[in-house]
Amino acid sequence: MMKNETARPKVLAVTSGKGGVGKTNIASNLAICFAANNNKVLLFDADLGLGNVDVVINADSNYNLTHVLSGYKTLEEIITIAPGGVEIICGGSGVEELANISPFQLQRLLDDFETLQNNSDMIVIDTGAGIHNSTISFCQAADHVVVVTTPEPASMTDAYAMIKVLASRDYPGQISLVVNMAASVVEGKRIYRQISQVAARFLNIQIYEAGIICKTEKLVASVRKRLPVVLNYPKSRITADFVTMAARLTKTQVKRIEQESFFRKVVNLFL
Ligand SMILES: Nc1ncnc2c1ncn2[C@@H]1O[C@H](COP(=O)(O)OP(=O)(O)OP(=O)(O)O)[C@@H](O)[C@H]1O
Ligand SMILES: [Mg+2]
Repeated sequence: MMKNETARPKVLAVTSGKGGVGKTNIASNLAICFAANNNKVLLFDADLGLGNVDVVINADSNYNLTHVLSGYKTLEEIITIAPGGVEIICGGSGVEELANISPFQLQRLLDDFETLQNNSDMIVIDTGAGIHNSTISFCQAADHVVVVTTPEPASMTDAYAMIKVLASRDYPGQISLVVNMAASVVEGKRIYRQISQVAARFLNIQIYEAGIICKTEKLVASVRKRLPVVLNYPKSRITADFVTMAARLTKTQVKRIEQESFFRKVVNLFL
């Protein structure tokens, strides 16, 4: 099949400067919303530290990329099907280990990833927090980077720092901002405007508004229950906000036409 704009799955990286701002919850709930629209969605947990997609989404994934690299499992075998029909792969410390495997092994793995990518409509990456090489590589290789911030000043500063790094590397895709844990939509919009105005003025780049998610006890309760909030409270305000955000992010045009597969790009940037 000829790969073109429409055939290639869209890759969306959810990232942040500061940790604990809600990336994993946002990536998981968005992935479920995308899947609910009849998309085949792959959620990749690329957090090198304590990856926790499987905790939020309650998928018992006993295996991660390290088991593939050690030859114990195939890539296909470490996929877990999560609630909502989302396929999950956990990177574990495997992403960093990629640097140490043989070129032959790497080639095989990348071929497997390519097959996986071709079988998906959408790939959502939950990156680690902070400006690490691997996080930046995942973002740079993605079509769309969704930066998460909260109204907290430290989180805003770190979100801006992340945007600045992407700008300095001439990131060609789209950058959108989520303001999470906002006290109100008004506050969230104000935070969005502040960051996007500074980015426009000093970095000369446009930051799109992915949406505002307010602080709610419903999300905390859902994490405790290990059930993503959109499944735990399907009729709530926060679920409606995730549905709207997913629709907005889906509409974005993928402008780049590239032959190279996503994971190959990550590896080329990272290694
Ligand atoms: N909208 C929200 N309302 C209330 N609490 C929230 C909200 N979003 C996130 N939280 C709280 O923040 C915690 C951390 O969320 P999450 O694990 O998604 O963040 P993260 O950015 O992935 O963290 P890390 O950087 O450690 O990977 C949640 O367990 C929850 O308690
Ligand atoms: Mg996380």
